Amino acid sequence: MVKSIGKRIIFIAVFISGNGSNLKSLIKNFKNNSKIKISLVLSNNPNAYGLVYAKKNKIKNKIINYKRKKKAESIILNLLKKNKINIICLAGFMKILSKHFIKKFKKPILNIHPSLLPKYKGLNTHSRVILNKEKFSGCTVHLVTPTLDSGKIIGQKKVKIKKNENASKLSKRILKQEHILYSKTIRKFVSNLEKKI
Ligand code: GAR
Repeated sequence: MVKSIGKRIIFIAVFISGNGSNLKSLIKNFKNNSKIKISLVLSNNPNAYGLVYAKKNKIKNKIINYKRKKKAESIILNLLKKNKINIICLAGFMKILSKHFIKKFKKPILNIHPSLLPKYKGLNTHSRVILNKEKFSGCTVHLVTPTLDSGKIIGQKKVKIKKNENASKLSKRILKQEHILYSKTIRKFVSNLEKKI
């Protein structure tokens, strides 16, 4: 895995399903980076607003029909190969990648999740955190494995919950931190990969 990356440009594919604010910040932060290039954006949702950012920045983008998951994943694997993608970054991608897909791709897949993993895996993290009267929440970047939100943690940011804060306000504050954490973690991850070569 590591050897195939080499000391050249690292091509990243970002997978989205919705607003794409994380994609927007990744594009901004890597725009002038000579080592890391976002070269492909995939969405399972044709109406994902994030596609606008890909188009604006002239990044190749594709909509993948996920009605038949097996077929969708096979199309994606071909696209990744054709575009020589080294790393996949999931950014609000609401489909679960199959074990087969992860095995076939062979290269790193990163995900950003809006909680302090291993706590609060899955959906509706912010409402569950508030309901449980937690003092802290945050966001986590982890490697993707076949078990949902369970791979190795490679970046995390803790956020203190304010008194009487609701889920919507908390989600906005955490999203801002996601935008900082994701780029920072990718940068560190790529430079660690290079050190190992
Ligand atoms: C982000 O909060 C991200 O952590 C979360 O969806 C949001 C996408 O926002 N991802 C998950 O919940 C994945 N399980 P964005 O589309 O504005 O980047």
